[in-house]
Amino acid sequence: MIPLSIPEISGNEWKYVKECLDTGWVSSAGPFVNRFEQEIARYTGAGHGVAVVNGTAGLQLALLLAGVKPGDVVLVPSLTFIAPINAVRYVGAEPVFLDCDDYYNLAPEALERFLDDACMTRVNECVMKDSGRRVAAVIAVHVFGNAADLERMLPLCRQHGIPLIEDATESLGTRYAQGDLAGKHTGAVGDFGVLSFNGNKVITTGGGGMLLTADDGAAARARYLSTQAKDDPVRYVHDEVGYNWRLTNVQAAIGVAQLEQLDRFVAQRRSHHARYTELLAGVPGLEVAGVPSYAENNCWLTAIRIDASRYGRDRERTMEHLRKSGVESRPVWHLNHQQAPYRGCRAWNVSRAVELWQRTLNLPSSAGLSGSDLDKVVEALKG
Ligand SMILES: Cc1ncc(COP(=O)(O)O)c(C=O)c1O
Repeated sequence: MIPLSIPEISGNEWKYVKECLDTGWVSSAGPFVNRFEQEIARYTGAGHGVAVVNGTAGLQLALLLAGVKPGDVVLVPSLTFIAPINAVRYVGAEPVFLDCDDYYNLAPEALERFLDDACMTRVNECVMKDSGRRVAAVIAVHVFGNAADLERMLPLCRQHGIPLIEDATESLGTRYAQGDLAGKHTGAVGDFGVLSFNGNKVITTGGGGMLLTADDGAAARARYLSTQAKDDPVRYVHDEVGYNWRLTNVQAAIGVAQLEQLDRFVAQRRSHHARYTELLAGVPGLEVAGVPSYAENNCWLTAIRIDASRYGRDRERTMEHLRKSGVESRPVWHLNHQQAPYRGCRAWNVSRAVELWQRTLNLPSSAGLSGSDLDKVVEALKG
């Protein structure tokens, strides 16, 4: 079976892990944790990186740092992996679901319309007109590595005094190429950015994540909260409820080795996207989903859109056909406003996401995918 997205462990991973084992620095402190944080911060231009146990914890940390309180509202896309939505719940807030654009990302028009029609902003506080609940954050997810249109959404957030959290868990290596944000990396634009180093991501530490911020105070507070909020680490005095969320040195060692190979991994994934686009052009009813031209996207996952009436198979049947041909594919995540825990939450005119969800499949996109693997996927799709 050709898998969807698997890691490539082909650099200094063994060497650096051995260093941890040889020196005894295996737990949640050590030179690789600091080095990984510094190197990611330098690479992304984010200012600070705070390494945590996974991206989900990083998102919860970002919400806490943004000052989201129980009862607040957080604006989220419906089309995303469920982790950022769950993080909103962990802090006691309520998600409100918005629609997506052509690149599967939170749609700037949806955000603008929602803020104009459903909210009012006074003295730098934005509240919903009907419930009076405070809109305390926006989470924009860079879906499949596609840069969300932050050039349009950041000013909206600023105008309404709402912190912007970037879920950049899928988009390490993606940077804006045009406009006001040209040269900026995803995750380093909003107030907080969050990366994931899960096994299926562009680089992995097994499990892991990182909070990015330009704010010195927020970074210090992130370190404090993620290490059990120790006010006196010798006498174990804690003035707040903290979390045990720090990444271990062994995981960070793998991360440092992976980061050394990131540019190659991104180039490989981008080249897979270009090759799929070229080879599938002209197949009736199939289209490789494009990526936004205002960015250099990491192409973490390539997606196809199926027009069942012309292709002859719908999404489910295409997935089954690929499986029988030894190719793993995945539909886009079940939309979050339809997931059991969130059915009672507000969804604001979510329609484009429903349409894209019905006809999108992700194709194998691992960096290490060979030319013949890719040909096999294309042949199966043409067969
Ligand atoms: C969009 C998105 N957000 C958050 C996460 C959570 O990251 P983690 O698995 O590291 O907790 C993931 C992936 O796993 C993701 O794809």
